[in-house]
Amino acid sequence: LFAPIAPVTTLRAWLQWREIRYDGAMAIPLIIDTDPGTDDAIAILLAFASPELEVLGLTTVAGNVGQPAVTDNALRICDLAGRPDVPVLIGAAAPLSRPLRSATGIHGIDGLGGLDLPPPSRAPACVDAIEYIVETVRYRDGVVLAPIGPLTNIALALRRAPDIARRIARIELMGGGIATGNVTRAAEFNIHADPEAAAIVFGSGAAITMYGLDVTHKAILGPGDAVALRATRTAAADIAARLIDRPHLFRPERYGRPGVPVHDACVVAGLIQPGLFDARSGRVDIVTDDGDQLGRTRAVFESSAPNSRIVENVDRDGFAALLIERLGATPRWPARG
Ligand code: RIB
Ligand code: CA
Repeated sequence: LFAPIAPVTTLRAWLQWREIRYDGAMAIPLIIDTDPGTDDAIAILLAFASPELEVLGLTTVAGNVGQPAVTDNALRICDLAGRPDVPVLIGAAAPLSRPLRSATGIHGIDGLGGLDLPPPSRAPACVDAIEYIVETVRYRDGVVLAPIGPLTNIALALRRAPDIARRIARIELMGGGIATGNVTRAAEFNIHADPEAAAIVFGSGAAITMYGLDVTHKAILGPGDAVALRATRTAAADIAARLIDRPHLFRPERYGRPGVPVHDACVVAGLIQPGLFDARSGRVDIVTDDGDQLGRTRAVFESSAPNSRIVENVDRDGFAALLIERLGATPRWPARG
């Protein structure tokens, strides 16, 4: 894939050839922009397990951990899911104009909660992530971008090719929070990591759905869900159970129940079963001034110039059931002795 001699030409030919149909409908062509990341891993495994989605590629961005760890982790997740056909493309190693502040406290030094997965079986593709996003959106109709890390790559693609804002079908992103933050009281990690990039994306005119902490702090999966995942005895479900069942991260006083918010999987679940969520239209602006409000996503719901659908609620049990059903229907671990 993307023969080194003519990567962009090969990419264009590949994009125009590939069309995946599901139940007569066209599967949603999707690029996941990711900083894996424990919840990123669950989101990507759910996407691979869902025929409603055609994962065109994974583009990696420094966030939870740096480069090349996020790229290696994306390749490991593809290996785990048996997806050598999905290209992984290297993106930004740092925010647009700020130093990277990683989140190893939550995701572990390796970014995958110490899962200790085998090293990647292949190298990343030879096209860089920004070129890949621009070319894919230009040459494939209906592409949805699902950024679930800092928005650096998306902003760089929009800067390089402003024309793609009208071509992108939707940007379904995990980031922000109207009522709360998780890095500071005001700001959520993905936006706080690169507020300048977020301002470019929210100001681009693209159709945006924002899955912020208002909804992801209700998407809590805990010990009971981990038991149900393990009971399916599939590799993907087992990995998801291990990434969920990390009691040192449980905050029942904050989330109302033991477990962890599986932030990024909300974006994928919303693409598969939109009815699990509800959202309101509003205008989101990003605070980029240094200070205690840096990275805040300010929303006005009765705006005359809305730029986003802001997701506020989730059917938690339905979300958990979807994850268990889909990951439970993937290949089983080889029979254990
Ligand atoms: O604030 C949660 C977000 O930050 C998630 O995308 C998580 O993976 C981290 O990147
Ligand atoms: Ca993430």
